[in-house]
Amino acid sequence: MAAAANLPKFSAHPIVQAPMAGGAANPRLAAAVAASGGFGFLAAGYKTPEAMYEEIRQLRDQSAQPFGVNVFLPQPAATDPSAVAVYAEQLAGEEAWYGVLLGDPDAGPDDAYEAKVAILLEDPVPMVSFTFGCPARKVLDAFRKAGTYTVVTVTTVSEALAAEAAGADAVCVQGMEAGGHRGTHRDEPLLDGTGDGLLALLPQVREAVALPLIAAGGLMRGGQVAAVLAAGADAAQLGTAFLVCPESGASPLHKQALTDPVFTRTEMTRAFSGRPARGLVNRFVREHGRYAPPGYPQVHHLTAPLRKAAAAAGDAQGMALWAGQGHRLAREESAGRLVELLVEEMRAAREVAA
Ligand SMILES: Cc1cc2nc3c(=O)[nH]c(=O)nc-3n(C[C@H](O)[C@H](O)[C@H](O)COP(=O)(O)O)c2cc1C
Repeated sequence: MAAAANLPKFSAHPIVQAPMAGGAANPRLAAAVAASGGFGFLAAGYKTPEAMYEEIRQLRDQSAQPFGVNVFLPQPAATDPSAVAVYAEQLAGEEAWYGVLLGDPDAGPDDAYEAKVAILLEDPVPMVSFTFGCPARKVLDAFRKAGTYTVVTVTTVSEALAAEAAGADAVCVQGMEAGGHRGTHRDEPLLDGTGDGLLALLPQVREAVALPLIAAGGLMRGGQVAAVLAAGADAAQLGTAFLVCPESGASPLHKQALTDPVFTRTEMTRAFSGRPARGLVNRFVREHGRYAPPGYPQVHHLTAPLRKAAAAAGDAQGMALWAGQGHRLAREESAGRLVELLVEEMRAAREVAA
């Protein structure tokens, strides 16, 4: 195997603030992370291409540091539209409870992958990462020509090999512990217990590919960052840890829930979006997670009015409370202070190990 390539030095510290679609990873958060020597990401998922570009402009106004934009790969149509229709019937009680109609599963756009890629090629940003699949070689080549560094999210060794073969510059290795949607290249039929945890997966990917690795999943403390660097990663990507920062655009209810003792565990669920995602187990997950069908983004559109109504009513039991397994360790610090703390802890852990 060829010697592994190094990650170019985009930031002073090997700490990446994860892209978090749904509002959390906004320009303010990314700028604050970058100002403290971390690397910030914007999340284009669920956004129109215009809204994605507007956030890029805002971030450029707030920061001169390099940053990344994350894009979802388009998904094949729902495997079984009738299963989505059955799920809609099973959610009738939720409609009545929140006093809203379910969304039209087919109303939403397909996330406008091509249009987003076109904008990012026309006005290049330093880094683009992809999730839910691997772009075609010609897309990755076009980004390289444009001077943009490309990262493909992977959850298995075979996905990492596919990303390397397609010409990605680096991979983001996402362990099973990670909060939010699992970045598998295809939707998998099974949920919990099917994926590798980060510290099991990372060394396997390290031995299989020569690309730089960004490690993600359950990382909340600098000691864990030191551990993944020792296990072959070039940088650590943290989502849940940054979700609670005051700069994050996550809703206050979501932020509070992460350390609320009412929520005792996380689970991988399709209940809200039709694609496996890790979140706090609340009433909605308990009641609907068992039979929620595969079908992203149809189920995401179906449940959108319910999630919105739950948030408006201040009801965390009906919201998608995405969270990694380390959520209890969330610290409500400013993003800049959090980067500093992580760096201090990482250095202390490395001294212990030396
Ligand atoms: C609220 C939330 C939203 C997320 N949205 C995205 C996204 O849009 N794109 C993406 O690649 N990953 C997304 N992720 C996953 C992160 O990139 C990362 O893999 C994960 O946060 C790491 O696990 P941790 O939350 O335990 O740190 C999201 C995670 C969370 C918690």
